[in-house]
Amino acid sequence: MDNNDIYKVGLGLWKLPKDECADIVYNAIKIGYRHLDSACDYGNEIEVGQGIARAISEGICTRKELRITSKLWNTYHAQEHVQPALEKTLSDLGLTYIDSYLIHFPIAQPYVPFETRYPPEWIFKPESSSPEMLTAPVPLHETWQAMEALVDKGLVSKIGVCNYNSGLLNDLMAYAKIKPAQLQIESHPYLTQERLIKLAGHYDIDVTTFSPLGALSYLELDMADKTESVLTQPVVIAAAERLNKTPAQIVLRWGVQRGCTIIPKSSNLNRLKENISIFDFELSESEMADISALNINKRFNDPGDFCEAAFNKFYPIYD
Ligand code: A2P
Repeated sequence: MDNNDIYKVGLGLWKLPKDECADIVYNAIKIGYRHLDSACDYGNEIEVGQGIARAISEGICTRKELRITSKLWNTYHAQEHVQPALEKTLSDLGLTYIDSYLIHFPIAQPYVPFETRYPPEWIFKPESSSPEMLTAPVPLHETWQAMEALVDKGLVSKIGVCNYNSGLLNDLMAYAKIKPAQLQIESHPYLTQERLIKLAGHYDIDVTTFSPLGALSYLELDMADKTESVLTQPVVIAAAERLNKTPAQIVLRWGVQRGCTIIPKSSNLNRLKENISIFDFELSESEMADISALNINKRFNDPGDFCEAAFNKFYPIYD
């Protein structure tokens, strides 16, 4: 394994339950994870920080060896809220800096003070009799300028974006003084996103893919069905049998072998180990092509769908 390989698989922290989160983060670092993908919206940054602190205090790793990402939530897009939002994340994580800070969604929502609700989530006034998802007229270039100021102040090493499409990325490249270092998007064999990944490559932007196992992440949210699992695809099973690996390892290996960083989440120690043990084998060119050919442009995490279903607001960001 190359020294940098370990950063190609980060631990996705979305949906890690608070009561288990510190232990999972600690154990993940203990078994070799060095990249953690956090966000204000995941609601567990205090516990993530506790796991990190324990690992560092026991000498398992140093802060410098870790790469920690977090994300700016939709309600903090206005210029004056960006730095306080990062500072809140830093204080929750117990860190003086993070490696990457990303705009979580290209969706601006009205400001919710920390004391009112944290994380604020999607609904503006959840206690009201008709809770609403609202949007705010904050242009993304304003938010990006404030993100650039964070780099200038040394609070974060790299900045980037999530859930941008090609049009938004092209636009960002036109006004960015500090270019985005990372693009984080949903991608798996059912949503290969080749054009967007190629465009990011032209701009020298690293791509991290979330939900690299596809539907699995969405079963517990009722946003996918078991039959939509890519792990039962014959091409995946055939490669798993040839290489004596699990179907999940095949799909994750496909993710990194195509040049992306992946951030699978697991709450289970065996699966955590499985998910980083993907650097001692290679998929053949034809296996790579066969898995890529599973693409059906199936997006599981689409605000155009879930905002309407859950928050009664139609707000698509992909066409
Ligand atoms: P669990 O936490 O019980 O392991 P993603 O990161 O693509 O969003 O997917 C996460 C989902 O996939 C979670 O439901 C997680 O469940 C499951 N998962 C993670 N790793 C594996 C694996 N190696 N094999 C099967 N399921 C996995």
